[in-house]
Amino acid sequence: MAAFTLRKTDPTDTAQIPALYAAAFPDEDLLPLVEALLEEKAGVLSLSAISGEALVGHVLFTHGTLEGALETVALLGPLAVNPEHQRHGIGKALIAEGLACLKDAGVAEVLVLGDPAYYSRSGFHPHARITPPYPLPEAYAEAWQWLRPDGDSEPLQGQLVLPGPWMQPGLWG
Ligand SMILES: CC(C)(COP(=O)(O)OP(=O)(O)OC[C@H]1O[C@@H](n2cnc3c(N)ncnc32)[C@H](O)[C@@H]1OP(=O)(O)O)[C@@H](O)C(=O)NCCC(=O)NCCS
Repeated sequence: MAAFTLRKTDPTDTAQIPALYAAAFPDEDLLPLVEALLEEKAGVLSLSAISGEALVGHVLFTHGTLEGALETVALLGPLAVNPEHQRHGIGKALIAEGLACLKDAGVAEVLVLGDPAYYSRSGFHPHARITPPYPLPEAYAEAWQWLRPDGDSEPLQGQLVLPGPWMQPGLWG
C-alpha cells in the first residue's frame, strides 16, 4: 500500500466522500449525516487521509457542550477507511490527529459510540458517563466510550448537547 498523509478535508476530498462511505459502509447510509455535518459553519473537525490523489480515509469530530456546564466536548464519528486500505494504521492515525487538534482546542472529553475492541486501541474507555442526546439500548452501554485528551482519568458527567445533524434518534440505536 502507498503511504498516506493526513490533512484537513478540502474540496478535492469532499468530492470523493460519497464513494468512500459507500465502500466502507455498504449496509448503512451515513452520507446524509456526513454531508449535513460538513455543511455546519463551525464546530466540526473534518480530517482526510490521502494516498496519491485518492481519499482513503475520513473522520469527523463534532464539538458539543454539556447542559449547564462550561466544558466543550466532542463526538468522534463517522470514521471510514476504504476497505482496500484498511489495517494499515489509517484509522488510528486519523483518530490520533483529531485528538491532538481537540486537545489543542481545549476540548475536555471526546466521546464515541462504536466498537470498544477497536476504539480501546486509541485509548478510549467504555461506559461514558455523559448522557447522550437519546437513550441508548442497554447493549450499547459499553460502546458509549470516553477519552480525556488532557489525560485526566475521571470521566465527565452531564447532558450532551450536539448540533442538529446528530439530533435523530435513529443514529443512537
Ligand atoms: C474500523 C475502521 C475505521 C478501521 O480502520 P483501519 O484503518 O483499518 O484501522 P487501523 O489500521 O488503525 O487498525 C486496524 C486494526 O484494528 C482492527 N480492527 C478493525 N475493526 C475492529 C473492530 N471492530 N474490533 C476490533 N479490532 C478491529 C483490525 O483487525 C486491525 O488489527 P491489526 O492491526 O491487529 O491487524 C475501518 O475498518 C472501517 O472503515 N470499517 C468500516 C466502517 C466502520 O466500521 N467504521 C467505524 C464506525 S464506529
